[in-house]
Amino acid sequence: MAALLGRKILVGISGGIAAYKTAYLIRQLRGEGAQVRVVMTQAAEQFITPMTLQALSGQPVRQSLFDPAHEAAMGHIELARWADLILVAPASADYMARMAAGMADDLLATICLATEVPIALAPAMNQGMWRNSATCQNARTLLARGVRLWGPSEGDQACGESGPGRMLEPEQLMQLVRQVFSTGAAAGLKVLLTAGPTREPIDPVRFISNRSSGKMGFALAMAFSAQGADVTLITGPVTLETPAGVRRLDVETALEMEAAVMSEVEGCDIFVGCAAVADYRPAHAVGQKIKKTAQTRDIELVRNPDILAAVAARAKPPFTVGFAAETERPVEYAQEKRKAKGVDMIAANLVAAAEGGFERDENSLIVLWEGGRKDLPMTDKPHLAQLLVTQVLINYEKKHSAEDT
Ligand code: C5P
Repeated sequence: MAALLGRKILVGISGGIAAYKTAYLIRQLRGEGAQVRVVMTQAAEQFITPMTLQALSGQPVRQSLFDPAHEAAMGHIELARWADLILVAPASADYMARMAAGMADDLLATICLATEVPIALAPAMNQGMWRNSATCQNARTLLARGVRLWGPSEGDQACGESGPGRMLEPEQLMQLVRQVFSTGAAAGLKVLLTAGPTREPIDPVRFISNRSSGKMGFALAMAFSAQGADVTLITGPVTLETPAGVRRLDVETALEMEAAVMSEVEGCDIFVGCAAVADYRPAHAVGQKIKKTAQTRDIELVRNPDILAAVAARAKPPFTVGFAAETERPVEYAQEKRKAKGVDMIAANLVAAAEGGFERDENSLIVLWEGGRKDLPMTDKPHLAQLLVTQVLINYEKKHSAEDT
């Protein structure tokens, strides 16, 4: 509760039917001691009245960029500086597009462009609009600039359709606002991750590998770090930049990855095995380049160690999270894999699906644990990583509080 006491929150409202939920959100924010100022776009007024929001926020509601009386009281730049957090809820497709383009064509857009404080958007729109590649591109642009995307969730929509695009419920948004002002949900936690493919040498110039890009593992490292965790990322060969604040160790083979993990795992709280570790390696890597003399050639393969299972089998294992890429029956196979490897949680995805999976920017996941399941919608990997990290932290806390009692 104390997290919000005295915090200054500027709530932006753009045009969407979900604006009615923002009225509850404002009431809850004030109920926990936050100061709230509301800025509406012109379209928002079609869905909720300034009078309602003025009554709930206890402050005059700002609508126009060119309002001499309001500007004299608190100018738009002052307003942008006043806030500790800007939350735009609902954030319409149009608003996201204007923000991604850096427009300053109304008061809310101008404030978001001028501010230096964290900005969070709670998208709300028709599922087709959310899935449209223009909106996906805008979401990516905003995420890359450090804007937080909270939601959307999936389900029935006011337009009668069903799919991703529902604004998160006020209580879910409250939880995320509290997280911003707590020291970070993962503060003090040591997180170790593996990412990318491994390369198993056949000879000095050839190797066995796979299509893993490392994007999901890097996005997870970034999301844990953003939550205040102390993150170490052990990665196979990828062409990705190291996320800010993350310690990165580069390896090539499964055996090198195993050695690196085993020397880093002691004392870590959460281990996430996101790497696509090659299951087999050539039994003998040849010292010289193999000549193409023979018509056929056999390469004997031997099993690589299962790094995730080895971490989970330690005497005092960290909270372990694995991935399962399946081509069919993902829930069944992933649950079996989770049990066989002895891990706490497993994130399954269908790699046969046309969208998502290896080498793609988007993915969807079914997260499974003992007696529980959470479906995460098809979305950008950075966004999906934020959702997965939230779920991992919830389950980690549950396991800990159960162990402590
Ligand atoms: O058994 P499978 O390869 O499908 O399991 C996938 C999960 O196990 C992933 O989390 C992956 O990082 C991990 N894994 C591992 N070491 C291996 C094989 C898989 O850590 N040798």
